[in-house]
Amino acid sequence: MAKLCFLGHAAFKVTGENASILIDPFITGNPVAAVKSEDISDVNYILVTHGHGDHLGDAEPIAMRTGATVVANAELCAYLEGKGVACHSMHIGGSYTFPFGRVKMTPALHGSDIQTEDGLVPGGNPCGFLLNIDGVTIYHAGDTGLTMDMQLLASENVKIALLPIGGNYTMDVHDAAKAVGFIRPEIVVPMHYDTFPVISADPIEFIKAVGGKAEVRVVKPGEVFDI
Ligand code: NI
Ligand code: MN
Repeated sequence: MAKLCFLGHAAFKVTGENASILIDPFITGNPVAAVKSEDISDVNYILVTHGHGDHLGDAEPIAMRTGATVVANAELCAYLEGKGVACHSMHIGGSYTFPFGRVKMTPALHGSDIQTEDGLVPGGNPCGFLLNIDGVTIYHAGDTGLTMDMQLLASENVKIALLPIGGNYTMDVHDAAKAVGFIRPEIVVPMHYDTFPVISADPIEFIKAVGGKAEVRVVKPGEVFDI
């Protein structure tokens, strides 16, 4: 059985039978990070939804240290490959079967530029991920506003949806609750809130807004659960 660990903000670690996968490993500079970047080992793949610092995060140093392969859009991969990181590039709507399972890249309504020492570098289109591992499908929405496209996810048999609820840059609790109605997951885990004051949100308000459409699991950074 796969395990899901919430690392804080939008960062998760999925541990399956054949692989450990990080998603959006924003660790350094993350005020609610559950781990230290240098303590992260045994990672095989790193899924990155977009180029913003709170998602690309520590992907480069962790990939360089562990030899993990980054899975991201073609533009982010070109940027990271230029730094010596092993990448598997994909694009919106595409799916690929990896040794651990299948990944599909889903649309997200957001930006994706990369902040570098030399200024902003274009990071392609932002995305979310459907990750099928050990027979279970996880949806990580990335940063996104509510979209009608999310209705298409109802046929993807999503067991766990990881949805941003913090507002300002992404869906707030009310739009995220509408997304739950579109996606129809068994379980929803709110993320991307309370990391910074501008994305404060009340998960209890989210539970009320979801209103029984799915089980809402509010997890603290560092919490691990079976999926
Ligand atoms: Ni972002
Ligand atoms: Mn973000």
